[in-house]
Amino acid sequence: MSRIYEALQKAESERKSERREEESQTPEQPVSVGTIAAAIDEAEESGSESAFAEPIFAEPIFSETYRVSSTPRIGGESLDLSKVATRQWSMSLEQLPALQERGPAVEQFRSLRSRIFELRDISPLKTILVTSGLPQEGKSFVATNLALSLARHKNSKVLLIDGDMRRYTLHQLLGCESHPGLADYLAGKATILEVMQRPEPLQSASSAATAVLPNLTFIAGGNGGDKAADLSGSPRFGELLRMAAPYFDWIIVDSSPVLPVSDAVNLARSCDGVLLVARGGVTKFPVAQRAQSELKASNVLGFVLNAVLETPEVGGYYGYDAAKK
Ligand SMILES: Nc1ncnc2c1ncn2[C@@H]1O[C@H](COP(=O)(O)OP(=O)(O)O)[C@@H](O)[C@H]1O
Ligand SMILES: [Mg+2]
Repeated sequence: MSRIYEALQKAESERKSERREEESQTPEQPVSVGTIAAAIDEAEESGSESAFAEPIFAEPIFSETYRVSSTPRIGGESLDLSKVATRQWSMSLEQLPALQERGPAVEQFRSLRSRIFELRDISPLKTILVTSGLPQEGKSFVATNLALSLARHKNSKVLLIDGDMRRYTLHQLLGCESHPGLADYLAGKATILEVMQRPEPLQSASSAATAVLPNLTFIAGGNGGDKAADLSGSPRFGELLRMAAPYFDWIIVDSSPVLPVSDAVNLARSCDGVLLVARGGVTKFPVAQRAQSELKASNVLGFVLNAVLETPEVGGYYGYDAAKK
């Protein structure tokens, strides 16, 4: 964990000096989108230099195993996705930088995406849960922007699930309904098709969103309330993923923080991998460490270092082929 430790420490000292500057300037600064880098803790433990890997620009080799089947069937059951409701979405574009045409944030999410492709070449990976130790570290921000970035790649089909049934916020970023959602499905009050939604085609023809959104299907949080812990332990979540998997290239699940509640640890058991988010200048190293140990029964893919000013060993690449999708 030494690399994560160093990076978090560095981010904290940068944030402190930033704060000192802000205090002397008074007017409020807009929050900028920080650097995001994937870190693989196994590499860190072995002392490898690749903990914060250079972004990989080569396209991953796609294996047929991960292609979306044209006639998917699981145990004789199939989902008719043409029955999924399309609704009007009104997205919060400033919170969805992965939808910009180009720029640093697009590059950073693309770099994270490349790391994920690389991991998928090593072992099967389709369902990824995004979590962190505590609230406000950027789980929902990373999960949603990662889903958009994945959907931007070769028209990949992506299912985004708001698995935080207590403080569900993804519907706010996407500007759509929050009900019915995952909690309703897990409680047996709604079917998979009833909780899925897709955006109606957008009017603005030029935006990246127009190209990306048809690839996105969303399941909102629904309201789990005090039942969220029980619901997250339901075998229906694993069934949902098994039913949906053949229709999607990627399934991204946002979740609650792992230290205060057990929901994310429960959901993670049904996922292929877990991405942990640590926020520069906010997440303390012991919190990141404890979050990881809560998930030891799952396949932790690594840390996404969110909102740091500068990522160690990742630099000078923002201009690289920025127009490429
Ligand atoms: N890299 C970032 N740049 C700018 N704002 C961010 C970034 N990451 C998170 N935020 C903002 O911080 C707040 C908390 O993020 P959120 O993703 O909701 O946290 P969590 O899901 O972990 O509780 C949100 O307002 C979000 O837009
Ligand atoms: Mg959240």
